[in-house]
Amino acid sequence: MKNKKKKAPNPMWGGRFDFGSNNVAKKYTSSLDKDKRLYKQDIKSSLAHALALREANLIDRKEYSKIIKGLDKILKEIENNKFHWEEELEDIHMNIEFALEKKIGRAAQKLHTGRSRNDQVVTDLKLYLIESINEINSLITKTQKSLVNKALKFHNQLMPGFTHLQLAQPITFGHHLLAWHEMLERDYGRLIDSKNRISTLPLGSGALSGIRYNLNRNKLAKRLRFKEVTKNSIDAVSDRDFAIEFLSCACMLGLHLSRMSEEIIIWSSTQFGYIEIPEEFCTGSSIMPQKKNPDVVELLRGGSSKTIANLIGIVSLLKNQPLAYNRDMQEDKGFVFESIDYCVSSLEIFSSLVEGLKINRKRMEEDCNLGQITATELADYLVLKGVPFRQAHSVVGKIVMYADKTKLQIFDLSLEELRKFSKKIEKDVFSFLLPSESIKSRNLVGGTAPKQVLKQATKAMKMLKNRKKS
Ligand code: ARG
Repeated sequence: MKNKKKKAPNPMWGGRFDFGSNNVAKKYTSSLDKDKRLYKQDIKSSLAHALALREANLIDRKEYSKIIKGLDKILKEIENNKFHWEEELEDIHMNIEFALEKKIGRAAQKLHTGRSRNDQVVTDLKLYLIESINEINSLITKTQKSLVNKALKFHNQLMPGFTHLQLAQPITFGHHLLAWHEMLERDYGRLIDSKNRISTLPLGSGALSGIRYNLNRNKLAKRLRFKEVTKNSIDAVSDRDFAIEFLSCACMLGLHLSRMSEEIIIWSSTQFGYIEIPEEFCTGSSIMPQKKNPDVVELLRGGSSKTIANLIGIVSLLKNQPLAYNRDMQEDKGFVFESIDYCVSSLEIFSSLVEGLKINRKRMEEDCNLGQITATELADYLVLKGVPFRQAHSVVGKIVMYADKTKLQIFDLSLEELRKFSKKIEKDVFSFLLPSESIKSRNLVGGTAPKQVLKQATKAMKMLKNRKKS
């Protein structure tokens, strides 16, 4: 190729190069399509950095004022879709800096004093994650409120509880909804914990070894609302633990959304018929006119696999990287953004879906008349009458066998029939055998008794209402 056909080197780092990058290589190395999303954070951290430069007398008042006005204009242009993106310039950081130079001239070239893209990108990503966690957590809270509201309403709604997806013991529907609430409560807490560890400011670390200019890092941290500054510049630019930690929280949240979705799909099937998904969240079939399919919930379940894949993705990305910064790290944002998007959009839709769920009380109750669902209660009864548990278990096994043979439920048997198996059984046994009665007795903290569920749901709602917005 003739030299004249070659392009000029990159204006930001091309000093030691004769020629610009190969076009294919430029495209290959560009991260602009992904990191465009960091524009607000990039401008925010640049504004704070400019102020630190000013305070250290590294730029004069005029330059400072030009920089902040220029950055402000760029922010508005991006927000109004008027910004001219240059794919050639690799990433968001260089796009903004280049645009600033075009607007304000030489002063823009001073903005990168005491800063490297290595500490800049990690600062931006941390800022972005902190905001995203706040958004996800407020959506978790919203979803929890929908769940707890329903739990309050259905605190005494009888339904079968399952193990191995087989009928196990009667429970209340409100109790099951509170189980979902607890799962989300842990997600909320995990995200808060991870946010605490994200909150260390890398700016001031330079490319890897720190900076020689006397910038006040603590002030900078305060302004950008970081709790503290990073304590080792090599670690600061190579650390992506915070992204892994976030992705593992997102993965767990995805897992929870998927498990809840799975139950909604099962319960809304014709065979179960316990709940009805609002029509607006269902789709029909182009061939089977009768179909109402739970597509939205299936995509909640299916989409959660991205949160698992992204966790594995970032861990594999980091595994073999030596300290400090390597360009591989640029790939981190794809994983992070995709998981954020899944969490935000899924929580948004899941909370409205829960609100709109219709409950078929009768079907839930009917299924408690199947599967000898109070057999454990009968064993408990015998234990309370002094029979050792193992023996009680075996007696009840025989009663179940007898009831199954006669196609009856154990609570349909007469007292005489029951007494053939144990003389300890008396009239009071029926409060143990009837599902609607037996649930009342599980009245310890965490149990399924309507009273308990009402208490827990009331407490949970109070806690959620008092939760501070971050
Ligand atoms: N686009 C890069 C990233 O996302 C920014 C940092 C580049 N630093 C460098 N020394 N090449 O990681």
